[in-house]
Amino acid sequence: MTSTAAIKKALFQGRDWITTQEWTEPELDTLLEVAADLKRKFKARVPHRYLPDQTIFLMFFDKSTRTRNSFEAGMTQLGGHAHFLTADVMQVSHGESAKDTGIILSSYGHGIAIRHDLIPGQGNAYMREVAKWADKPVINMQCDVDHPCQTLADLMTIREHRGRNTRGLKIAVSWAYAPSYAKPLSVPQGLIMLLPRFGIEVTLAHPPEYGLMPETIEAARENARRGGGAFHVAASMEEAFRDADVVIPKSWGCLDTMGSQPEESLRIAKQYTHWICDARLMALAKPGCLYMHPLPADRGHEVTDEVIDGPHSVVYAEAENRLHTAKAIMALTMADREIEYEA
Ligand code: CP
Repeated sequence: MTSTAAIKKALFQGRDWITTQEWTEPELDTLLEVAADLKRKFKARVPHRYLPDQTIFLMFFDKSTRTRNSFEAGMTQLGGHAHFLTADVMQVSHGESAKDTGIILSSYGHGIAIRHDLIPGQGNAYMREVAKWADKPVINMQCDVDHPCQTLADLMTIREHRGRNTRGLKIAVSWAYAPSYAKPLSVPQGLIMLLPRFGIEVTLAHPPEYGLMPETIEAARENARRGGGAFHVAASMEEAFRDADVVIPKSWGCLDTMGSQPEESLRIAKQYTHWICDARLMALAKPGCLYMHPLPADRGHEVTDEVIDGPHSVVYAEAENRLHTAKAIMALTMADREIEYEA
């Protein structure tokens, strides 16, 4: 910690964290300042039990490594407890309503976090219905529209490497080939909506079949106009990577068939196996360009080992920041008194 750091206080008690769109830039700045302070405290082993004896319910409709464990470990470090729940063993699998689930879980604890990301049109609507009835904060651990916990960690990572003033940075958000599964659209959608608000010039690239939700494209354009950034769409990785400061290439599924026929996304993808982030592509970007990926990555398909294990890659720092940002979100929305932090 620096001796010149200002002591600030913040509290967003009771707020839901469903998309970054509902939070202002100063509020997002505060979340990132608190995340940075929590990171310093974690590394210095300074106790930061802002949520003593509190409970958060983590409700997963999909698999997870980073999200589940950053929330579970983070809640323990904040002095509370996280219950891990999978939808397939809850009564929601027998049709129990979002209303009943939200009212009941919020009566047992202090927050509800939900991942429901694989079926376009469902996840965001589901968590908004839970939030309507729950009287505790609802946190989006990834839906069909946004992955705000990931994009906040991504912005934190970009600032750590490129400074707080991100105006004028050029970032490529690109589709890449992956045979493992039809990955959600929410990471690229969340990135194109969030980054232009901070003056960043974002170029999105994808094959024609892999377009994103039109409302997120519209939001990206509007955010670029308001935030002083820019938003472009390109037809190739090469075009997006040229002179980029940061590249974020990853796979996602086809919007139209993702929910009903996920295998169709994988079938169509086979004609685009050359959409791989390799050294040739990285050479088109600026020297010192950052390679980022939210993980899990399909090594050898989305990215070569040479790139993901090479000098451009910040994927492990990016994944680590999921812990610190998840803690900032929980602390600021669930605490019942102001959080004091150094900024
Ligand atoms: N990036 C991310 O959300 O990872 P998990 O799917 O492992 O949670």
